[in-house]
Amino acid sequence: MPEIVPIADIPAAITSSRKISRDVSIITFECPEIAAAARPGNFVNIKVNASTQPLLRRPFSIHNVEGSTIDIMAKTVGCGTAILADSACGDTMQVLGPLGNCFNTSECTFDTALLVSGGIGTAPMFFLEKKLTEQKTACINFIGGRTSEDLLRYKLSNCRIATDDGSEGFRGTVVDLLENNIGQMKENGRLKVFACGPNPMLKAVAAFCRKHNIPCEVSLESVMGCGIGICYGCSVEVTTPEGGTESILLCREGPVIDADRLVL
Ligand SMILES: Cc1cc2nc3c(=O)[nH]c(=O)nc-3n(C[C@H](O)[C@H](O)[C@H](O)COP(=O)(O)OP(=O)(O)OC[C@H]3O[C@@H](n4cnc5c(N)ncnc54)[C@H](O)[C@@H]3O)c2cc1C
Ligand code: FES
Repeated sequence: MPEIVPIADIPAAITSSRKISRDVSIITFECPEIAAAARPGNFVNIKVNASTQPLLRRPFSIHNVEGSTIDIMAKTVGCGTAILADSACGDTMQVLGPLGNCFNTSECTFDTALLVSGGIGTAPMFFLEKKLTEQKTACINFIGGRTSEDLLRYKLSNCRIATDDGSEGFRGTVVDLLENNIGQMKENGRLKVFACGPNPMLKAVAAFCRKHNIPCEVSLESVMGCGIGICYGCSVEVTTPEGGTESILLCREGPVIDADRLVL
């Protein structure tokens, strides 16, 4: 039976808001109910202000949980994320969560976790790394970006870096870097890949894992409205075990799915 997680919708005070790069901020919310129930891979849906601009809440992965607070890592791309970036200590926003499913970290199935992320896809990885480290599973982060300025390794340990332009680390994609390292990685016992990033990257990671027979979970993104399975705004197409395809609601059956379900 899947665990039933209580969902809270609360006015959460911001206790810290800080920029970690030109367009990415870490925002900390005081929300004990969500912090207590959150699992790596879950997300929250945030109403960034009380007005109708923007009307809809915005979804963000839970980046970290510390006591009664949660952190999100938000990249500024439009009006909702701009409001978040300009937020200050003491501001309050309505936060709904924890939402969605979580990464399956069940330790009996693998010895070493490869956390593969690109761009803002690193957002859920710190919480995941913390959980894996608590259960004494070895973790290696593979982080990709277009240039060194796009790399987000905030708080992550044991990082291997790839940049498209070679400005830092390996020159190429993070999947090229995985391919380059796979011989050595196989000496680390049974591997499992956890990935989050742009869809083309996730498809390449899924194809890599199929080729090398490595179990893999990916955290997907889609446009979202309600975040709780009512509006049908987050429908994505995935494969079925019979070889066909079906639509799932990513806010309820995701955002984490088995990479074998990705339509490549
Ligand atoms: C489950 C989930 C978890 C997410 N976690 C994070 C996170 O941890 N950190 C983070 O910075 N972002 C995350 N996102 C993406 C984030 O929700 C969007 O960037 C945000 O909603 C944009 O809001 P906005 O009002 O600033 O931009 P808008 O004004 O709504 O849009 C500006 C531009 O961004 C594009 N855009 C909007 N939403 C998305 C999206 N979901 N994916 C890709 N492009 C989008 C639009 O097409 C448009 O071009 C997540 C999305 C999902 C579905
Ligand atoms: S976001 Fe409304 S159904 Fe998924």
